Amino acid sequence: MIRPLNIAVFGSGRGSNFQAVLSAIQQGRIPNADVRVVVSNNSSAGILAIARANGIPAEHISEKKFPTPEAFTEHLLATLRLYDVNFILLAGYMKRVPVRIISEYRNRIINIHPALLPKFGGQGMYGMRVHEAVVAAREHFSGATVHIVDEEYDRGKIIVQKKVAVAPDDTAESLAAKVLAIEHELYPEAVRMFAVGGVLLDEVVE
Ligand code: GAR
Repeated sequence: MIRPLNIAVFGSGRGSNFQAVLSAIQQGRIPNADVRVVVSNNSSAGILAIARANGIPAEHISEKKFPTPEAFTEHLLATLRLYDVNFILLAGYMKRVPVRIISEYRNRIINIHPALLPKFGGQGMYGMRVHEAVVAAREHFSGATVHIVDEEYDRGKIIVQKKVAVAPDDTAESLAAKVLAIEHELYPEAVRMFAVGGVLLDEVVE
């Protein structure tokens, strides 16, 4: 019996990847999965508005509102327990996940990155900066990567990747649009793999 995925989504911005996953769940393309709560460090993030519009609890949890990093982590963990979360999706989350949460949710946190990791990942490589770096390096291909989140930034085990060709006249903006379209296919596919047991959560170890 496969344990249902009770998902928390963490995001900081517009939330289009969350929307893609949510639509796939609502349309029955991802069985055995339910988004329990959406968490953002940014009170005006689009991702929180999408959650509210769909009747999903939307929590603004920012480290700035807590006296210590430990108090922040404690509150985050309490929130995850409150909603009985057993799986976390990072969808444009621009903050580091506290190490205590990574270890409590070992192999149960995934992220989508807008490039072909291990290239163009690591500290400071997020959003448009990634596409600017890919264009500057005159790469022939870019794409999207879904990977397990561990303590090393953008270095966890890769689950799936999808490629896109970089045209000679692509700008960071045009490349971002191409990659985003691929992300919207890839993230629901990856969540589906976990939901149906295609990835055995406890066996995703190095
Ligand atoms: C996406 O392109 C995602 O891959 C990227 O932020 C964007 C969020 O868009 N994430 C990173 O760069 C993480 N390192 P969205 O809020 O519309 O899903």
